[in-house]
Amino acid sequence: MGSLVYLIQLLFFLFLVEKFTNIKCTSLDPEFAHVDHCYLKSVNRTYKYLSLRVNLLQKPVSRIKVNAATWKRYNGYKPSLYNFTVDACKFIKNPKSNPVAHYIYRLFKDYSNVNYTCPFNDDAIVEKLPISFVNNQVTSVLPVPSGDYLFSSHWYFYDIKRVTINVYMTIF
Ligand SMILES: *[C@@H]1O[C@H](CO)[C@@H](O)[C@H](O)[C@H]1NC(C)=O
Ligand SMILES: *[C@@H]1O[C@H](CO)[C@@H](O)[C@H](O)[C@H]1NC(C)=O
Ligand SMILES: *[C@@H]1O[C@H](CO)[C@@H](O)[C@H](O)[C@H]1NC(C)=O
Repeated sequence: MGSLVYLIQLLFFLFLVEKFTNIKCTSLDPEFAHVDHCYLKSVNRTYKYLSLRVNLLQKPVSRIKVNAATWKRYNGYKPSLYNFTVDACKFIKNPKSNPVAHYIYRLFKDYSNVNYTCPFNDDAIVEKLPISFVNNQVTSVLPVPSGDYLFSSHWYFYDIKRVTINVYMTIF
């Protein structure tokens, strides 16, 4: 029940995503991961997409954890609403075990090769994920504070934080 409430709140949050403004991918360990590319591209007014590729330099990897959190900007970004950590290897085996992570995963999985369980033996790719696809996952709009938000994700491999992927968005 608790997680259902949590999921509904998260949906409310994601409903209102109108505009992705930036994406930043950072490798904190150049011997482990290399950010090949990571960007948002506007093709025209209706078609904007997100692509990224993080090369993993010590494959295969078999212990992956992800911490994801949402932040809202006031004077600088402050933690807001969500903060959770999942064991990615367990999660991919049974995505429904974590409804919130499952919701986020479904937003990009069809455009990604991160679709099988550990050991993960590829570079991590998200290829031309249409922003409209992300926004269209939901149809109705509910009132939530407008503003600038950050969705941060920290990727731990073997319990060491090695990669950070931050997505910035504006909610109107
Ligand atoms: C935007 O670009 C996409 C892909 O090239 C194209 O299919 C679509 O028709 C374009 N839309 C407009 C409004 O030009
Ligand atoms: C999320 O929770 C973790 C563990 O409690 C904490 O270390 C981290 O700072 C939190 N992140 C945010 C954005 O609040
Ligand atoms: C995983 O993603 C790759 C690359 O996009 C694709 O070729 C493959 O069919 C996908 N596998 C599954 C089980 O969806």
